[in-house]
Amino acid sequence: MDERARRIAALANVAGYDAAATKEYVDGAPHVKHASLRRLYGDLVVRVYDEARRHADTPVVLDLGAGEGSATIPFLELGAKVVAVDTSRSQLEALETRCHKFSDALEVRCQDAADALLEKGERYDIVVANSFLHHVPDYLGLITDVASVLKQHGQFFSFQDPLRYDSVGKLDRVLTLVAFGSWRVFKGDAVGALKREIRRARGVYLEDSVHDNAEYHVKRNGVDQLAIGRLLKESGFDCSIESYWSTQSRAFQPLGSALGLKNTFAVVARKRV
Ligand SMILES: C[S@@+](CC[C@H](N)C(=O)[O-])C[C@H]1O[C@@H](n2cnc3c(N)ncnc32)[C@H](O)[C@@H]1O
Repeated sequence: MDERARRIAALANVAGYDAAATKEYVDGAPHVKHASLRRLYGDLVVRVYDEARRHADTPVVLDLGAGEGSATIPFLELGAKVVAVDTSRSQLEALETRCHKFSDALEVRCQDAADALLEKGERYDIVVANSFLHHVPDYLGLITDVASVLKQHGQFFSFQDPLRYDSVGKLDRVLTLVAFGSWRVFKGDAVGALKREIRRARGVYLEDSVHDNAEYHVKRNGVDQLAIGRLLKESGFDCSIESYWSTQSRAFQPLGSALGLKNTFAVVARKRV
């Protein structure tokens, strides 16, 4: 994966997460929007934090693509120190406002995640990539770099990335598209969005389109959970991948969950000693 694709995706995300998008963020973010997903997420956060506390009094967390803080805030609440990294100033301003009472335990960096992982000498108990891997063209390269900044016993935690589409069951895939369409149709420029879907279905992607590059792998083949699991195991981690159902649609979220459908995944991985 080349450096050019990384830079194009990073710039598209800066454009895609401006002040207006930050305001609308919750409606398009299932893991923040739906109580059932917030519960699932909360359980995993506590599990990861409790494990880190076995080895550090005050675990230090690096939150990559921190956005408006949906990982930073619970880790601060639990007692961690957090370094929150994001390329969007507007998202980070929202995060700082929401975290004002924790300012002593929080450091905010407006920086590309790839650069944050190259900072010399910094080591973390937990690296979080929440709803973030799908933004990164070379997410396997990013995870390789994550492994090198984790302390002994360190953990990698990610939540809310789309399963690799060609590994998802047919019914799950069809309902994912129907559910997304039923939500997307009321969000404006529905015809433009449909035309873009048709273009991409023909394999045509545009370098200058924010729509094609801001959520890079959502627009391609999802995120390869199997390759991530393999990479982490080969890199010396115990790794569990948890699959679940998520959609922006308020009607289809409970329906898909009740049917046991899966289209999204989380990773909890711990360095073996
Ligand atoms: C879907 S949001 C996730 C925000 C938050 N982690 C959450 O779970 O709600 C993705 C975030 O990644 C940020 N982002 C995208 N590409 C980035 C990059 N290369 N480096 C750092 N942040 C990036 C975006 O600005 C956005 O805030």
